[in-house]
Amino acid sequence: MNKLIVRFATLVLLSTCIVLQAQDQPLPQTDLPWAYALNSPRAERPADDGLPKRVPGSQSEFVLSEIRNLYSPPDWHSDDHPVMPAIVAQGRNPGVFACAYCHLPNGQGRPENASLTGLTAEYIIQQMADYRAGLRSSSEPQMVPPAAMLAIGLNATESEARAAAEYFARLTPRQWIRVIETETVPETSVEGWMFVAVEQGGSEPIGQRIIEMPEDLERTELRDSRSGFIAYVPIGSVDKGRQLVSTGGDGKTPPCGVCHGDDLRGLGPVPALAGRSPSYLVRQLNDFQTGKRKGRWSPLMQEAVANLSNEDFVVIGAYLASLDP
Ligand code: HEC
Ligand code: HEC
Repeated sequence: MNKLIVRFATLVLLSTCIVLQAQDQPLPQTDLPWAYALNSPRAERPADDGLPKRVPGSQSEFVLSEIRNLYSPPDWHSDDHPVMPAIVAQGRNPGVFACAYCHLPNGQGRPENASLTGLTAEYIIQQMADYRAGLRSSSEPQMVPPAAMLAIGLNATESEARAAAEYFARLTPRQWIRVIETETVPETSVEGWMFVAVEQGGSEPIGQRIIEMPEDLERTELRDSRSGFIAYVPIGSVDKGRQLVSTGGDGKTPPCGVCHGDDLRGLGPVPALAGRSPSYLVRQLNDFQTGKRKGRWSPLMQEAVANLSNEDFVVIGAYLASLDP
């Protein structure tokens, strides 16, 4: 039975990738395309030039093919975190990529995935159980990183999930995202599931979006776990978000701190929200609303988001990301 599930998950992942390569006309997207960023056409990454790469503050050197190794990603700053269990550092080949590849060895994560720092082991174990039971999926099946996580969640065993959860729960979250309120943002394309500035592009109105970009694209592409992100958000959104989150906006929703803790850093098994990627947080709010995320504990959230609009999601994301993790 388990083998069947593994095969099925691998098949789903492969066919997603094939469909994505084959189609010329993209399928319709969600109405939050900035949160579920899809690669721009013909975004190709450079081939390995065989040259050793370096990042500031590390004595290590890796070539691009090592940096892109899904079963042994680079650990530039091994002093920043405890020794990783095998499932985090190497994963299990085939079927379970190393958690550290996407979530980084220090658990800080990237906009196209999620930070795992500041979460309890109990919460992470429950999420892995939800993935295994097929209760967590994404409103945007064309976005490959969440699809990959679904496959990994299906394939990972309970003891692998537990080892990873215990590791990530030990890590201390760090400041990782700098929120900037602005009217305009650089013109962007999406490469590697992430917004990057178009070369010699101009600027454009931000509108009702949050645009999350690397502080230093080169370091992020080298998967440097000390180089974080900027989140551009609409003017006034942080304050509006603070109002909505702390009061519930006149009965629109319960004040979030009731369950997530007054400081929004989590309460018991309820996850932390402070200082996390606004793209990730908004994907989740939307996935609760569309019913794509329907884990064991999700009904509490489905109620909380029932009356929230996409505009509410933007201000909530802006405010939560601006908090100290
Ligand atoms: C290919 C990239 C990738 C790898 C490798 C990966 N993940 Fe994920 N993970 C993701 C993405 C993407 C999301 C967010 C999905 C979304 O946006 O809906 C995620 C989300 C999660 C979440 C949910 C976090 C939350 O706050 O609810 C957990 C828990 C998690 N991953 C654990 C793991 C573990 C444990 C491993 C290793 C066994 C792992 N992941 C490996 C991409 C990855
Ligand atoms: C009644 C309790 C309750 C309230 C009120 C509540 N939450 Fe939650 N929240 C939860 C629980 C429980 C989870 C975990 C759900 C799951 O495991 O599927 C969660 C998960 C989330 C997540 C996903 C986090 C992750 O790591 O994936 C986000 C984002 C979130 N809540 C935001 C909010 C916001 C914003 C508010 C206020 C508007 C709010 N919550 C109000 C209980 C609550």
